[in-house]
Amino acid sequence: MNDVMKDLDWSNLSFGYMPTDYNVRCCYRNGKWGEIEVCSDEYIKLHMAATCLHYGQEAFEGLKAYRCPDGKVRVFRVEENAARLQSTCRGILMPEVPIDLFVEMVKKVVRLNQEYIPTYESGATLYVRPLLLGTGAQVGVHPAKEYMFLIFVTPVGPYFKGGFSANPYVIIRDYDRSAPLGTGKYKVGGNYAASLLPGKMAKSRHFSDVIYLDPSTHTKIEEVGSANFFGITADNEFVTPLSPSILPSITKYSLLYLAEHRLGLKPVEGDVPIDSLDRFVEAGACGTAAVISPIGGIQHGDDFHVFYSETEVGPVTRKLYDELTGIQFGDIEAPEG
Ligand code: PLP
Ligand code: COI
Repeated sequence: MNDVMKDLDWSNLSFGYMPTDYNVRCCYRNGKWGEIEVCSDEYIKLHMAATCLHYGQEAFEGLKAYRCPDGKVRVFRVEENAARLQSTCRGILMPEVPIDLFVEMVKKVVRLNQEYIPTYESGATLYVRPLLLGTGAQVGVHPAKEYMFLIFVTPVGPYFKGGFSANPYVIIRDYDRSAPLGTGKYKVGGNYAASLLPGKMAKSRHFSDVIYLDPSTHTKIEEVGSANFFGITADNEFVTPLSPSILPSITKYSLLYLAEHRLGLKPVEGDVPIDSLDRFVEAGACGTAAVISPIGGIQHGDDFHVFYSETEVGPVTRKLYDELTGIQFGDIEAPEG
């Protein structure tokens, strides 16, 4: 790709929306996907009875493009996001976006907006946001017959304060982000709507985000509102919760692999009871936006449980971060897939 770039303060980007030049769209009508359209309009024209507006027939994805020192631009594990969107589509009765179409549209929108891909040195990235909307009109509760799949991009910096630095999180027992057998495993807007109020409560108390408990028993850690949870034990296990109501994080599965194959840790997916936090010597939140955000401590009722340190990043978390971001920026050889 050419290296003409917009004149932006790449090192000081926040995780916010900034307009870029193009988005790409593809509509589903009469039972099939149409042609890819390139668009420079930031707005979409919607029927007022579109199912995305009334009945939550809406899903999104999140992935990133990285400007690498060898001059290439890499997109991290795009097929995995495409596959997860297909799973979401099956969950809320939307037509599956073919993997090839998803990948082609991601590549196209990144290429079209290449001047917005941040410099390698800044550590910032181009966030890619695919969005699928039920656009057909319905008044009864039924799936739409028409859909719009669109992808926009925006350059971003760190999601949590300070980027790769330890932050406090809080368990708020009175709220769940999803029901036990609900839509937590799908990337649908409703899960995030449910997290807005508890998220605001957490932030007003100066916590980075909420850690949700399992919605059946409220005894086990599920995930953060915008990222999965992991803990490192004193006997070198990388532990992450397994539950039908958490979002299957692509970053988490990458870390499970890297923990085992690059760091020699034992990868464990299982229950993380809140009364067993003492077994963890380090903990973190992981995801596309969060990357790895070290968890300094968790407030639970009157107790503030500190892992490695309230402010410092533990050595295993640092190694995982270096390995993950090294692969994402093409500095370290990536495993197959
Ligand atoms: N959990 C939630 C609720 C999220 O919104 C995200 C972000 O996508 C994640 C976990 C992390 O998933 P991924 O690593 O695929 O970005
Ligand atoms: C992501 O990490 O891509 C997310 O979707 C998290 C958040 C911005 C919703």
